[in-house]
Amino acid sequence: MTRIFSGVQPTGNLHLGNYLGAIRNFARLQDGNDCLYCVVDMHAITVWQDPAELKKNTREVTAAFLAAGVDPIDNIVFNQSQVPQHAELAWIFNCVARMGWLNRMTQFKEKAGKHRENASVGLYVYPNLMAADILAYKATHVPVGEDQKQHLELTRDVAQKFNNDFGEEFFPIVEPLILDSAARVMSLRDGTKKMSKSDESDYSRINLTDDPETIELKIRKARTDPDPVPDGSPEGGTRENRPEAFNLMEIFGALTDQTIADVQRDYGGQQFSAFKRAVTEVAVEKLGPMGLEMQRLMADPGYVDSVLAGGVKRAKEIAGPILDDVYRIVGFLR
Ligand code: TYM
Repeated sequence: MTRIFSGVQPTGNLHLGNYLGAIRNFARLQDGNDCLYCVVDMHAITVWQDPAELKKNTREVTAAFLAAGVDPIDNIVFNQSQVPQHAELAWIFNCVARMGWLNRMTQFKEKAGKHRENASVGLYVYPNLMAADILAYKATHVPVGEDQKQHLELTRDVAQKFNNDFGEEFFPIVEPLILDSAARVMSLRDGTKKMSKSDESDYSRINLTDDPETIELKIRKARTDPDPVPDGSPEGGTRENRPEAFNLMEIFGALTDQTIADVQRDYGGQQFSAFKRAVTEVAVEKLGPMGLEMQRLMADPGYVDSVLAGGVKRAKEIAGPILDDVYRIVGFLR
């Protein structure tokens, strides 16, 4: 049985990219695998979070997991800060990872921007906590969107260095599971930027809690070019010169489980106005019921919290003995 781990930050505005790139696959992977799905609240506070919002968003991500079909009985659904082993192992990894490795992390550079000196230390060592999340369970497979690839490479490096330093094949070398073409859903306003929770424009993303009218409006206003839907011919253009057109086709393909070639066959040459109606229809059909279910769950915080509490207990049962071994290997007296 393969052990799968993945995490989502409770930083608000969960969107279609989070769903297609990660959360949808959580449910698809649950059969026959041993899965842990974590709301990574400790990662969230690497940038400022309003405490009341953080609580609400932690429940919202949990609700999204459940509404997407993750079964909290078969799988372990929990929030990171309630399992102290994550922070404990992250400290060990702070002492294993090298400054040079972290200096190469593009996401830190993007998030810290020009104000690097002002970024939290937590944001800098973020990837070590992520390695700890995964390796505290010796998970081997990690379903994520494309943007997390570099962090998973660091996880592999940390595991390898720990194993080499202490002369024991203790941690597995993880495999990223970057599952389909929707591993990188782009902004609806700018096809060269990824769809993101932190984009100032709400029109850049479809939020999982958007109602059908909002979804329709956002897709109608999504940026495209004057040419018809690409049909696969050289004149139809490429992802490089028509990023917005290809993004909408990829979103449609992912929502309908079709390849880009299928979408080109059915819609190539048509006007975007017609194609956007088709995209709206499937987006509303797939996301509408999920948004309603998320809202229903969020209206019952007691239930959501009980799901997390059950997950926390089971997560600790796995991570506790692994941390005991880590401390023994490192040479800490127990
Ligand atoms: P986060 O919270 O930013 O995003 C959650 C998941 O959504 C994916 N994603 C996307 N996929 C496709 N297109 C997009 N535009 C898009 N935007 C986001 C992300 O790749 C991710 O899979 N560092 C992680 C959280 C984390 C984690 C972990 C993940 C912490 N520990 C351990 C896996 C394993 C993050 O910030 O994800």
